[in-house]
Parts: sequence; structure tokens; C-alpha cells
Amino acid sequence: MPLHILEHPLAAHFVTHLRNKNTKPVTFRTISYQLSLLLAVEATRSLPTVEKEIETPLETLRSRVLSRPLVVVPILRAGLGMVQPFLDLFPDVSVGYIGMERDHQTARAHSYYCKLPPLAGTRVILVDPMLATGGSAAQALSIVKADGATDVAMVCIVAAPEGVAAVEKLHPELHIHTAALDRELNDHKYILPGLGDFGDRLYGT
Ligand code: PRP
Ligand code: URA
Repeated sequence: MPLHILEHPLAAHFVTHLRNKNTKPVTFRTISYQLSLLLAVEATRSLPTVEKEIETPLETLRSRVLSRPLVVVPILRAGLGMVQPFLDLFPDVSVGYIGMERDHQTARAHSYYCKLPPLAGTRVILVDPMLATGGSAAQALSIVKADGATDVAMVCIVAAPEGVAAVEKLHPELHIHTAALDRELNDHKYILPGLGDFGDRLYGT
């Protein structure tokens, strides 16, 4: 499975600030936006384009435009913090939602909400900042595939090797884009060094 780690000094800078426990929710949200913007650009590098004839003020030109509709699917709740950059960059993007929550004891994720636009013929980008055990991502991927998605990528901010391996096993074709690949999971299935609970830090809960 192709794993793409965003190598950019600004990405490293942003991840450091997200990791810092003293970063307040208002700053955490701003940095999540900025980092997700960088990731969105990277994750859409392979979007197909077609030629279109346009008139510049001086002459006729055949020039390239995006050809495949884009659907961004945040995994609630923390994935919401990564959606706005896609809306800002891709004005025609559609948004689907998948609600997933990990059980606090078992760390197993279960799905509690799903609302998706038509996915056939689109590029689906699943966004969730934390890829820990991979349970949430793997289930969400199965859901979008069952709904007709054939071209899917995943964007996260911090991934654990365990989560990457688990998702790879079930979805070997998936491209994962992350800003950081961390060391391991702790006994409670939190990522180390990680940044804590992304949703709690994003929304001050
Ligand atoms: C977090 C995170 C991912 C999931 C990752 O969500 O946003 O969705 O955990 O863990 P996994 O790879 O082990 O499944 P959480 O369940 O805490 O819900 P929240 O976004 O509502 O806070
Ligand atoms: N979810 C989070 O928000 N953080 C982790 O470290 C693991 C799962």
C-alpha cells in the first residue's frame, strides 16, 4: 500500500504545534486547517484532468481542467477539522459524512451515522486526523466502497504503524497521505508520541 508522508518544513512545524499540549483549541483548529490544506494539495496530485477550449483575452487556447468529481468524507467528529481546506480549494466538491466512535474500553470503533452523496465515478478522499488501530478507517473504507466508490484515498495527520498495517491488510490498494508516522500505540490504543485525543483538542471537550 502506498504510504505518503508529507515532507515539508511547514508541515513539521504545524505537527509540532499540534503535539504541544499547551496549544489551545483556537490555535489547534487554525493549525489543523493549515496542515490539512497542505495535505489536500498533496493528496490530489494525481487527480485526472481534461483539455477544454477557452478564450483568453488574446486568443483561443486548449487548457486543462479537473475532470473527476471530488467527494471528501470526514470521519466524525475529528475529521470535520480537515474539511474546510477541501471546500476552499475545490469549489465543486461534495461532502459525505461517516460517524465513527471508538469504545473507550475496547478501542473498537462502531459506526453511528452515514450520509453519502453518489460516489460512483468520483475520487473519494476520506479524512480523519488520527489513524491509530485503523479500525475506524478500515470500516469507513468498506462503507464507501460498498456505496460504489472505486477511487479512494485517505488523508490523516498522525498515523501509527499498527493502523497503517491493519488498513493495508484490508485495503491494499489505498493511498494514505499523512503528515507524521509515529512510533507505536500505547496500552489504551493512543498514538505515541501522538497529540492526545484530536477531537477533544479540536473542540475543547
Ligand atoms: C478518533 C479519531 C479516529 C479514531 C482513530 O476518533 O478521530 O476516528 O479515533 O482510532 P482507530 O484508528 O483506533 O479507529 P474517536 O473515536 O475518538 O471519536 P471522535 O472523533 O468523536 O473524538
Ligand atoms: N484517537 C485520537 O484522537 N488519538 C489517538 O491517539 C488515538 C485515537
